[in-house]
Amino acid sequence: MAIPESFIDRLVERSDIVDVVSSYVRLSRRGGEYAGLCPFHNERTPSFYVSADRQAYHCFGCGAGGGVIHFIMSIENLGYADAVHFLARRAGMTVPEDERDDELPKLRRRMLELNREAARWFHANLNSEAGRRAAEYLEKRRITMKTAVRFGLGAAPDSWDGLIKAMAEKGYAREELERAGLAVRREGKVYDRFRDRLMFPVIDVRGDVIAFGGRAIGDAEPKYLNSPETPVFSKRRALYGINLAKNTKRSNIILCEGNVDVVTLHQAGFDNAVASMGTSLTVEQTRLISRFCKEIVICYDNDPAGQKATERALEILKNSDFSVRVLKLPDRIENGMAVKCDADDFIKQYGAEAFEKLLKGSGTGMDYKLMALQSRYNLTKDEDRVEYLKSAVEELAGLDSPVEREVYAAKTAQAAGVSLQSVLDEVSRTAGKKRREEKKRHEREALRPERQVQPRERSLKYENVRSAMAEEGVIRLLLRDTSLIDGCELAEEEFTSPFLGRIYGEIRRRAAENRSLSPPAITAPLDAAEASHLTEILEKPEASGESRRALEDYIRVIRRERVLSSSDLAEIVKKMKEEKGGRG
Ligand code: UTP
Ligand code: MN
Repeated sequence: MAIPESFIDRLVERSDIVDVVSSYVRLSRRGGEYAGLCPFHNERTPSFYVSADRQAYHCFGCGAGGGVIHFIMSIENLGYADAVHFLARRAGMTVPEDERDDELPKLRRRMLELNREAARWFHANLNSEAGRRAAEYLEKRRITMKTAVRFGLGAAPDSWDGLIKAMAEKGYAREELERAGLAVRREGKVYDRFRDRLMFPVIDVRGDVIAFGGRAIGDAEPKYLNSPETPVFSKRRALYGINLAKNTKRSNIILCEGNVDVVTLHQAGFDNAVASMGTSLTVEQTRLISRFCKEIVICYDNDPAGQKATERALEILKNSDFSVRVLKLPDRIENGMAVKCDADDFIKQYGAEAFEKLLKGSGTGMDYKLMALQSRYNLTKDEDRVEYLKSAVEELAGLDSPVEREVYAAKTAQAAGVSLQSVLDEVSRTAGKKRREEKKRHEREALRPERQVQPRERSLKYENVRSAMAEEGVIRLLLRDTSLIDGCELAEEEFTSPFLGRIYGEIRRRAAENRSLSPPAITAPLDAAEASHLTEILEKPEASGESRRALEDYIRVIRRERVLSSSDLAEIVKKMKEEKGGRG
């Protein structure tokens, strides 16, 4: 917040966007720009472009875009100030007047403190009568006290206001508990949200308690009650157990489904286990994991839901830099019957060594997919073999590496009893077709007229498109040829788009103060949507020719539109039309 603008300008100058992006995305030269696979959505052909001249990035597929600071904010999942610090460290610069603590807005800081106090209280309950049921339940699930301490597990007692009262003593108001998702309001009354539950504090990589998961003791519904989204908790970005797993000495992260799985795995010596809390894996979560390791082992429940979740996770991880494996849990035997199980069940029945074996032997994501396909067909029947080959080829065509293609094509060929060459031929045909289709789709996307006109972000929508197009042109011209700024007599108030007017004002202010007019310096203070939009504007082609004349043309359009749409005139025109209609 209190970081001086001049520092940001210098930082941006010293943080070359191509360099910065290159440490996350493999870029290759395309004309005057660089292209790569977008790190913000899944794609096979590059639509993510980085321009060294403009020091900006832009994805034609998902619309992400901005300057170097936005890139770091999105990819590292950081707020503005943290992203600035991140880049400063990288550039060997010190952020002046480091007032970092003040930057985490007060509300968030206080909420984190409240969460920490609440976690302490839940945990302390385990040793008192109020937490007896939870403590017994831990014992029944064979979770030791030592493990409970390591995870800060706790007990929410069976009471309507135990937490509210305890936190009141620490100076927290009911409203604060409500905002933090620790209390709920019903018919004007405020109650503890978590009652009679085993509590799992969710702790992020910095060690802050950002949320809670509460498991029912016994059969209460729902089985798990989680904190709602709050200013400090976003489910998409959280991973249960990451606070411990980030320090693992093991070479990979095990991704499982449940909190209990994570706790049991850690207890059995697999301190690299994490779980996403009741959602399928998100891109944000993979980005978080990528800070700590390059290999993910998916170990979801072996029931149909878990298999679906595995396929979705593989989809998210496709084209990522992770190497991905899938640990397939066998069914468990209970009373002579095979039953589905999760990591927790497995370890409790077969022990840590058996799990270690599974971990070592776990196949790759592609192995998993091919096996899943095979199990759907009867490969002794010709029709089935053809169908199996079709689906397998579809999957293989998605592999970019020729070596991988050959390895899995061989497995496929063997399973279906056909020659390797025939499979490889089919794969390269399909891959070619896919590439062509994708390319066409991109071209269509890029040419969709409405997309080029209206901003993607609703709140930036243009009221007067014709004027806004000219306003965009003015901004584009001024930033391409800054010598035009001085003579430009357009006033900020003449802009019909408040956003573009604001940018225009900013350009003039910077020019007057002799400050940087580079696109990244100007996009730096904007929010993500605004930055993407401005980048998109600056990427649009500008007819070559005399720029002063072009500027005059734009200004003329803006002023004409203004006259046309001024309310008096509109009234007059409307009246005239009505009169005409009345007569006719
Ligand atoms: P599971 O039902 O597999 O939970 O749900 P679990 O942790 O293995 O629990 P046990 O072993 O039956 O005691 C997986 C995860 O999905 C979320 C929780 O985060 C849970 O850990 N979940 C599940 C919910 O958010 N709500 C629910 O009602 C159920
Ligand atoms: Mn379980």
